[in-house]
Amino acid sequence: MNHPTTASSKGRINIVLTHKQNARTDAQQSFFHTEAEREKHYVLERIERELEQYVGLIEVKRLIKEVYAWLYINRCREEQGLKVTKQALHMIFKGNPGTGKTTVARLIAQFFREMNVLSRGHLIEAERADLVGEYIGHTAQKTRELIKKAQGGVLFVDEAYSLGRGGEKDFGKEAIDTLVKAMEDQQHEFVLILAGYSREMDYFLSLNPGLPSRFPIAIDFPNYTTEQLMEIVTIMLRERQYELSEGAKRKIREHVKRLRQEEGRSFSNGRYVRNMLEEGIRTQAVRLLQEGNYERRALLTLSEEDFPFENTNVRP
Ligand SMILES: Nc1ncnc2c1ncn2[C@@H]1O[C@H](COP(=O)(O)OP(=O)(O)O)[C@@H](O)[C@H]1O
Ligand SMILES: [Mg+2]
Repeated sequence: MNHPTTASSKGRINIVLTHKQNARTDAQQSFFHTEAEREKHYVLERIERELEQYVGLIEVKRLIKEVYAWLYINRCREEQGLKVTKQALHMIFKGNPGTGKTTVARLIAQFFREMNVLSRGHLIEAERADLVGEYIGHTAQKTRELIKKAQGGVLFVDEAYSLGRGGEKDFGKEAIDTLVKAMEDQQHEFVLILAGYSREMDYFLSLNPGLPSRFPIAIDFPNYTTEQLMEIVTIMLRERQYELSEGAKRKIREHVKRLRQEEGRSFSNGRYVRNMLEEGIRTQAVRLLQEGNYERRALLTLSEEDFPFENTNVRP
């Protein structure tokens, strides 16, 4: 077989083609010009295909290509005896709830494992309470334990700006100092992602002047438009093998449009859509049970009456 591999024990990029992915038929759509090139860069093709299943996320898609290219070219430079500069890959994710931050962090962790940047590629999700303790020294200990768990993977700190409040006496500062120290000592053993609302994150970074330069990558996760949310609805229902009646589609679009406006930045975007659909699925089940209707078409279809938005338990 003539699979071009660039495996190397010392190289940081280690691309081994274990199996051939279904080749893309539409060559024009691909970044690469030949089938051989596409095969060589199958890790990039794979993650790009995975990202295609997600709506929007333009910045993320661009960043992945950039990081892939940089790691790959570094590998080539190394082979030619050229200088290779290491770069930190720690990141800041800014955006409102449900805009895909955790989802993307998980994909990136996996991607870094495939690129041999991380040995395990798992994601440890944490928030203030997981890092901050109750007495002096407790915080450093808790934070170090978390960092240890994240070895070989990504440590994702949600609502990270909450570490910055409370002034000098607050233990949040101790958590930040411990994280920064670990970033220096264990630079290439874990990737740290700090996430949170855009404005709060900017303020948090401005309070900690040493921080921004340690996070060379910052990604904005914008709110989804109504049409993007409807696309997410379609994707989620396709996965679950359900369809919407025309009436349900219209009702959901109107409802989502209104919530986006009313809720502003606390609106939970993709998460709301998922919870709303799951409630709809349960409501449909009760309805079908009551109707005694177990026909295939009925089982497949969510209709208008399955979304009684005036009487819902789902938080926007
Ligand atoms: N671009 C997208 N396309 C499809 N589904 C999405 C997209 N963004 C988010 N979702 C879905 O919305 C939900 C919330 O996403 P999540 O990553 O947890 O958001 P965040 O971490 O920003 O709060 C998940 O079920 C996720 O699959
Ligand atoms: Mg999240």
